[in-house]
Amino acid sequence: MVILVTGGAGFIGSNFIYYELDKYAEDRIVCIDALTYAGNLETLEEALKNERFVFYRGDIADGEFVNGVFAKEHPDIVVNFAAESHVDRSIEAPDIFLRTNVIGTMTLLEACRKYGIQRFHQVGTDEVYGDLPLDRTDLFFTEETPIHTSSPYSASKAAADLLVLAYHRTYGLPVTISRCSNNYGPYHFPEKLIPLMISRALADESLPVYGSGENVRDWLYVKDHCSAIDLVMRKGRNGEVYNIGGHNERTNLQVVKTILKELGKPETLITYVKDRPGHDMRYAIDPTKIRSELGWQPETSFDDGIKQTIRWYLDNRTWWEHILAGDYRNYYERMYGDR
Ligand code: NAD
Ligand code: DAU
Repeated sequence: MVILVTGGAGFIGSNFIYYELDKYAEDRIVCIDALTYAGNLETLEEALKNERFVFYRGDIADGEFVNGVFAKEHPDIVVNFAAESHVDRSIEAPDIFLRTNVIGTMTLLEACRKYGIQRFHQVGTDEVYGDLPLDRTDLFFTEETPIHTSSPYSASKAAADLLVLAYHRTYGLPVTISRCSNNYGPYHFPEKLIPLMISRALADESLPVYGSGENVRDWLYVKDHCSAIDLVMRKGRNGEVYNIGGHNERTNLQVVKTILKELGKPETLITYVKDRPGHDMRYAIDPTKIRSELGWQPETSFDDGIKQTIRWYLDNRTWWEHILAGDYRNYYERMYGDR
């Protein structure tokens, strides 16, 4: 089987490539990645040594490039991770989100239609459902929850999901979509909450918590997300959406305090800053469908996963220090300078 993974130099895509290379000795992995600010080829250093892995640098919204890769590699399964993924950046500059997340997805779907595939899997997000109120802990996102987006990021991801379903209905393309809650783990870019707080706490820098810090996210260890995607793309029902989550809800403040405690750093590092515009209050996934249809279960609890993640960031300082030494500093100043 040839599996085309887009966005494989990013956080979840790279974890997925290692998961697949490890689990399936027969499959070849073809990776497409534009290496934007979030893509890091250093992450794929080990994969690049594997003869079952090949990397192409290019843009999923560039039809000529995408068709060229399909013509050469003839993928059986396409898994689309490639995206602009950071909500704060989408609030600053939405246009690239529409180009990559919407036009890019359509370009891949067109190539799938032209060359033929067994399955197109879209890596979606629970953010397409909007948010849940903090005082209704009995409510969860199901696959039937209406799409109700808050940010340009989530709107672009919702548009992509709808295009995928339209290609299924109109052209009969074999597709699946998964919608996962917040991931954490190795190779997470240090602009997102958990790696940002770990790297800043280690440098004794202030930890910027948006608003009151009471917003709730439903955290899933990245390897559990990879095992779920693997199941859905191989065994999920054609044309279906599957929610992925492990009931690990925490407030942002709980997460930040856990990190400080693990690192032996004082809570005085916490600084409350101006809230994110349109900030979603609570995400919480109901994973009943993927559990009952495909037998998926997460293996890592938040308490274990956060310890493993902190350990990884301590053991792999070079990885994130190289990122911090790049354009990240300018970005940080732009985003937090006047907060
Ligand atoms: P990421 O930002 O770490 O990685 C995105 C990757 O896509 C990068 O390697 C980047 O270079 C590449 N890319 C961006 N634009 C591209 C383009 N035009 N052409 C080719 N490659 C391009 O993102 P992530 O956190 O790994 O998320 C991966 C996917 O999973 C995204 O689709 C995201 O919406 C979804 N998702 C993420 C989470 C999460 O918590 N991180 C949760 C649910 C769903
Ligand atoms: O739910 C899935 C989504 O999770 C994915 O689709 C997105 O790609 C991914 O980035 C993530 O989105 P969030 O907006 O939830 O993640 P982020 O790490 O940006 O923020 C997590 C929470 O922490 C959120 O409530 C905002 C808050 N936050 C974030 C940052 C970066 C802070 O309080 N301070 C910060 O500096």
